[in-house]
Amino acid sequence: MTASAPSSALSAGEAAPNPQLIRIRDLVYQVAGIFQPDNKLRLLEDRCVKRMEVLGAKTLREYYECLTVKPIRQAELVSLLNEITIGETCFFRNLPQLDALRNIVLLKIIEARANLPLRHLRIWSAGCSTGEEPYTLSMMLLEETASRLKGWTFEILATDLNERSLAHAKHGSYGTYSTRNLTSYYRQKYFTDRGDELHVNPDVKAHVNFSRLNLFDDSRVAFMKGLDLIMCCNVLIYFDGLSKRRVIQHFYNNLLAHGYLFLGHSESLYGISEDFRLVHLPSATAYVKSEKRQVNR
Ligand SMILES: C[S@@+](CC[C@H](N)C(=O)[O-])C[C@H]1O[C@@H](n2cnc3c(N)ncnc32)[C@H](O)[C@@H]1O
Repeated sequence: MTASAPSSALSAGEAAPNPQLIRIRDLVYQVAGIFQPDNKLRLLEDRCVKRMEVLGAKTLREYYECLTVKPIRQAELVSLLNEITIGETCFFRNLPQLDALRNIVLLKIIEARANLPLRHLRIWSAGCSTGEEPYTLSMMLLEETASRLKGWTFEILATDLNERSLAHAKHGSYGTYSTRNLTSYYRQKYFTDRGDELHVNPDVKAHVNFSRLNLFDDSRVAFMKGLDLIMCCNVLIYFDGLSKRRVIQHFYNNLLAHGYLFLGHSESLYGISEDFRLVHLPSATAYVKSEKRQVNR
């Protein structure tokens, strides 16, 4: 069954948005922190219409009920979030940042842990999309633990809100767009060529643990403890100030005393948090957990 277009959420003359669309926007914001500004409402409406076609819902009001009162509401919310999240990513996305991580930050972390008996690094890729970021980290750490970090082990926790992205990530096959930054060294060493796709080898996969996690799910995020490094790149751009503050406070609590936080190259904690110290690296920046304040939970 196909749904007719909803009683125009935004009509040709850009009249006031349909109140049901605004309620859906507010629901998405409350559940996942993702804020759709007025100029993105058209996109939200398109995604809702797509879901309405699947469900046979005829109006946005009916669809809002599917999201809030019908027995399918939880599953439908997951499906809508799958539609509206933007998963743009690739291997070795931000080279200056990765070089700085490898040549400076990892060594700082090792140094800070010198007195601790456990030689194991815990890294969280928060908002990992289809997996290119955590697999990039895994390859880099495999290189390092075979050389400068000999004797160290590592694990990468990779989480995202989008179920479909996570299924892709776990499968681990990628086309030319995602793999465009891979050097022939990495292609040959860590991938198997399967015609028009490259498949991530088991040794890279073995260090990455994927799971669905909403960064707005306080009770679950609070358990992501004991981390040396959090990569949360190009995720907070979809959040407003309030949502960012909530997530960043968790990151602060999740990191070990010497822990580092990397954001996307257009993102910063300016006006969001003063708990981290900004570190200038060659052509990149990072945040290190400030020693001034510890929040014990
Ligand atoms: C643009 S991708 C970034 C991928 C990767 N970090 C990178 O920089 O290449 C943004 C990801 O954030 C995820 N995301 C958005 N809101 C989220 C939330 N509340 N909880 C967890 N993940 C979220 C989206 O599903 C999407 O996969």
